[in-house]
Amino acid sequence: MNVRDRIQQLKEEKGAVVLAHNYCLDEVQEIADFVGDSLGLAIKASEVTEPIIIFCGVTFMAESAKILNPEKKVIMPEADAVCPMANMCSPSQLEEAKKATPSAKVVGYVNTSAAAKAKMDICCTSANAVKVIESLKGEEVIFVPDQNLGAYVAGKTGVTIRLWEGFCPTHQAFTLQMVEDMRAEFPSAVVMAHPECRPEVLEMADMVGSTSQMLDYAADSKAKEFIVLTERGLLYRLRRDSPLKKFHVPDVAVCPPMKMTDTRSVLKALENEGPELLLDDEVIEAARRPLERMISLR
Ligand code: 13P
Ligand code: SF4
Repeated sequence: MNVRDRIQQLKEEKGAVVLAHNYCLDEVQEIADFVGDSLGLAIKASEVTEPIIIFCGVTFMAESAKILNPEKKVIMPEADAVCPMANMCSPSQLEEAKKATPSAKVVGYVNTSAAAKAKMDICCTSANAVKVIESLKGEEVIFVPDQNLGAYVAGKTGVTIRLWEGFCPTHQAFTLQMVEDMRAEFPSAVVMAHPECRPEVLEMADMVGSTSQMLDYAADSKAKEFIVLTERGLLYRLRRDSPLKKFHVPDVAVCPPMKMTDTRSVLKALENEGPELLLDDEVIEAARRPLERMISLR
């Protein structure tokens, strides 16, 4: 039996659901039961009724699944797949920032550890950051850890936001020159950018949004060609959903941790029912509040 069929058989036998992020390898997206952006995955994870969640993506996403549905066994086929931005804001640094500005609300991008989330007032993703900031009705905000998303949201809402120095190495690698060169090569292309891109890159974009928002935008758009300023894994669904349209990503658009999980590691995870992602009950309890507060804004 091939790997794909065996995965299917084990999923049914064990009651497992495979969740995967839009950046995962094509072969992983193909065997997943649900593929989405961080917000979609968090919502989906909270609704899973099966006993096992196999999470294909990076650790902060699997942690959110565990926090939102703690009764489930959450398994990460590649437990070392860590988003580097999630390590750019430690709980102790956050504690210090809160002491320095006690009146400010801490808005935390979901690309953070569970322990850091435990110290936040509310979480956000790239899909709902503007809505989250607007929900705070003008309160002072410390935004962690992505400085580019924070600056983008500050510009959109007019709210004064204290930025952190975090960034995504993959999106930070897209320079203005790179995008200008792509525009010169594909002059009729619409530019879609993830808000983790540099401010000068976002200024050039025709559309800024989360990975799933880009999928919807490209499918609905009359345009035939797109420059896509995010990780290349998104190409799989862009091309599948809009086979007659052309999509171009920068050569450097690769997130290494997202590429660690393949179908073999998914199969192994199903066979071994591990490695299981475990979190302290106290962390789960404290980190659930800001995540649920975010989801309730839906
Ligand atoms: P999305 O929530 O837009 O899928 O983004 C997650 C991410 O890690 C982007 O780099
Ligand atoms: Fe983290 Fe960037 Fe990879 Fe997204 S693309 S998971 S922010 S390193």
